[in-house]
Amino acid sequence: MKTQTAAGAGNTQLEKFFHDSLKDIYWAEKHLVKALGKMQKAATTDELKSAIEEHIGQTEEHVERLEQVFEIFGKKPQAKKCEAMEGLTKEGESIVEETEDGSMTRDAGIILAAQKVEHYEIATYGTLRQLAITMGQDQIAEILSQTLEEEKQTDEGLTRIAENNINWEAEQEPAEEEK
Ligand SMILES: [Fe+2]
Ligand SMILES: [Fe+2]
Repeated sequence: MKTQTAAGAGNTQLEKFFHDSLKDIYWAEKHLVKALGKMQKAATTDELKSAIEEHIGQTEEHVERLEQVFEIFGKKPQAKKCEAMEGLTKEGESIVEETEDGSMTRDAGIILAAQKVEHYEIATYGTLRQLAITMGQDQIAEILSQTLEEEKQTDEGLTRIAENNINWEAEQEPAEEEK
C-alpha cells in the first residue's frame, strides 16, 4: 500500500506533471471568472444570465479550492497560461460578435461556448482526481471531486436551458440578409 505523500511532493515525474497541470487549470479558472462575466452580460435571457452568474460564484470557489490543493501538495499557488482555455473563451467572444444582440441565437451560441468550457474542465478534473488517487493524495482527490461534480451539474443545467426553449426559439429567428 502506498502511504500519503507529505508536503514537498513533486519528486517523481508524475508529481511534477500533476503540479504543472494544476498551474494550468488554476490559470484557466481565474481567466474564466472574467470570461464568464462577459458571456453573462452578452446573454439574452434571464435564465441563461442567472445560470452563468451562479457558475461564476462556483468558479471563484474553484480558484480557492485549487489554492487549497497547491497548499496540501506543498506548493505555492502559481498560474501558467492555459492556451486551450484562452482559445475556448476567444471562440466564445467571436460567437458573441457574430450573433445579434438580444437574440435567442446569441444564447444558443453562448451555451455552446460555455459547454465546451465545461467539458474541458470535466476532462481536466476527472484526470487530475484520478492522478491524485494514484499518488495517494486522497484529500486532494476529494477536493477535486467536489469541483468536478459542479462542472458536470453546470453542463447538464446548460443542456436543460437550451432544450427547454432557447434552441426552439432560436430556430424561429429569421437570418439577416447576407451582406
Ligand atoms: Fe471551474
Ligand atoms: Fe466550469
